[in-house]
Amino acid sequence: MSNRIALVTGGTGGIGTAICRKLSQMGHRVATNYRDEAKAKKWQQEQAAAGFQFTIVAGDVGDADSSITMVKAVEAALGPVDILINNAGITRDTTFHKMDAMQWQEVINTNLTSCYNVTRAVIDGMRARKWGRVIQISSINGQKGQYGQANYAAAKAGMHGFTISLAQESAKLGITVNTVSPGYVGTDMVMAVPEEVRAKIVAQIPVGRLGSPDEIAYAVGFFVAEEAAWITGANLSINGGHYMGW
Ligand code: CAA
Repeated sequence: MSNRIALVTGGTGGIGTAICRKLSQMGHRVATNYRDEAKAKKWQQEQAAAGFQFTIVAGDVGDADSSITMVKAVEAALGPVDILINNAGITRDTTFHKMDAMQWQEVINTNLTSCYNVTRAVIDGMRARKWGRVIQISSINGQKGQYGQANYAAAKAGMHGFTISLAQESAKLGITVNTVSPGYVGTDMVMAVPEEVRAKIVAQIPVGRLGSPDEIAYAVGFFVAEEAAWITGANLSINGGHYMGW
């Protein structure tokens, strides 16, 4: 069945936009959240000009009350959420010995506590309807660690711990829970890494280039599909061969 309702957090970003478009192309109705209304409205208009209709709602995924309000707004606009993509994320890169408590906390809140805040607001409905898809967008750096990212790697590794626990609790209820772990994709977040540092990172990617947002969205579509009902608790690495741990 297509035409389900999807919430993609951080949908206005690089990977988020590609995920919103992929789910829309699969026939689902898609909403995302924003913190900056003007930026989100501009994004919404650009997407509409490209033929994509997306619902935007205010919400800070790092804040529990705001997340509840955000989910209620999606439900009011579209209906109950069947598909949740926990995609919103930030970086505050710095070596750990220089990291202040704010840099730690902001990343943990936005990247990891958000999984509690938003998933908690949709899980009861999924359980009652006996269908759901919850996908965490984690990172290669949650799998291998990264110089300058103790906060980010801790949050991203935590996301998969969340996945494999919720997957067990949800398995009998038609809800699958999976993680997608992208490597370095050509988004604003990666382009913010200093050029000489980035060049060294790209040199470590066997495929020889950054990934594209569509290459991540493809995997999200795979997990969302009805046919993926037996895939749960997985962590799919998509990184051009940069990290091949198993
Ligand atoms: N391994 C070993 N040494 C390293 C290193 C590494 N990977 N990276 C940097 N260093 C060294 C430098 O060579 C330098 O050495 P010298 O002092 O001897 O010259 C030293 O570390 C710099 O250390 P500082 O404490 O001065 O570091 P800094 O405060 O300047 O911070 C940094 C540097 C912010 C970590 C910077 O190197 C950086 O931005 N690195 C990239 C981090 C990164 O990959 N972020 C990913 C963002 S994209 C994303 O997160 C999406 C995703 O999921 C993949």
